[in-house]
Amino acid sequence: MNDLPTTLPGGAWTMGDLTVTRFGYGAMQLAGPGVMGPPADHDGALAVLREAVDLGITHIDTSDAYGPHVTNRLIREALHPYPGSLHIATKVGANRDEQGGWPPARTAEDMRRAVRDNLETLGVDVLDLVNLRLGDAQGTLPESVAEPFETLAELQQQGLIRHLGVSNATPEQVAEAQAIAPIVCVQNLYNLAYRQDDELIDQLAAQGIAYVPFFPLGGFSPLQSAALSAVATRLEAAPMSVALAWLLQRSPNILLIPGTSSVAHLRENVAGAGLTLSADDLAELEKIA
Ligand SMILES: NC(=O)c1ccc[n+]([C@@H]2O[C@H](COP(=O)([O-])OP(=O)(O)OC[C@H]3O[C@@H](n4cnc5c(N)ncnc54)[C@H](OP(=O)(O)O)[C@@H]3O)[C@@H](O)[C@H]2O)c1
Repeated sequence: MNDLPTTLPGGAWTMGDLTVTRFGYGAMQLAGPGVMGPPADHDGALAVLREAVDLGITHIDTSDAYGPHVTNRLIREALHPYPGSLHIATKVGANRDEQGGWPPARTAEDMRRAVRDNLETLGVDVLDLVNLRLGDAQGTLPESVAEPFETLAELQQQGLIRHLGVSNATPEQVAEAQAIAPIVCVQNLYNLAYRQDDELIDQLAAQGIAYVPFFPLGGFSPLQSAALSAVATRLEAAPMSVALAWLLQRSPNILLIPGTSSVAHLRENVAGAGLTLSADDLAELEKIA
């Protein structure tokens, strides 16, 4: 599935009719502290987004809950009118409260409102990809996806959404969603240290569905491990580069959306993720989980 000319590590992947670079960018870190409010450095945030596109990245992940509305508006300010090759994935399913919490918002009306909000704040007529974000900040919850996912499928039928996915979802919820409408990706917590979805990743790969790990670098407390440091030192690479290269090598359906608020880290991550890890490196990294 490599029909987008790219020199970025990992090549490209196709979700439905969207071909994206496997090396993408997650915009959450561009909002203020606690993912609330505007960034301290507005121009710096715009510079990161523009650099991502200049580096050839064609997949940006966002949500109207980031800020709320902050990262969507930054993306629009930095990049609109969007290049034809750029695809923006957003998420619906949570609101923000005054304490910075993420209360669920998954009624049919919540879905319609969130899709309208995303269309408006991103400045588009059709959303490329909408993930139904389930669970809560602590993890997954055993809830039915029927009402929100059926509503998203209706909005897709109306032409407001090109493709659907699920996020923070259990394998049962993935299957329940697939019985309602096709999905092109699952976005769940996964990294070198957190491997709960190993089986799901392989099942999705067999179906040609993308798996998009969130917190690929460990999230708010970036990955730290003696084995990771040892492998990185041996390869004369940054630990974060090793963590990203490991994900790209783990399975061809894995798409990266590492977050950063720094142009320097973005460049370092792009430059480093193409490392080739040997069987010995992989065996050592396997111990982290
Ligand atoms: N579906 C969901 O429920 C969900 C949940 C969380 C996140 N997400 C998505 O997943 C994306 C990625 O998650 P994330 O950004 O929270 O976590 P992440 O990508 O695992 O890690 C980001 C953290 O790593 C740091 N970092 C990045 N590159 C670095 C480097 N080269 N050296 C040192 N530190 C580095 C960043 O700090 P600096 O800013 O200083 O670089 C930031 O603190 C988000 O942007 C969001 O789009 C989805």
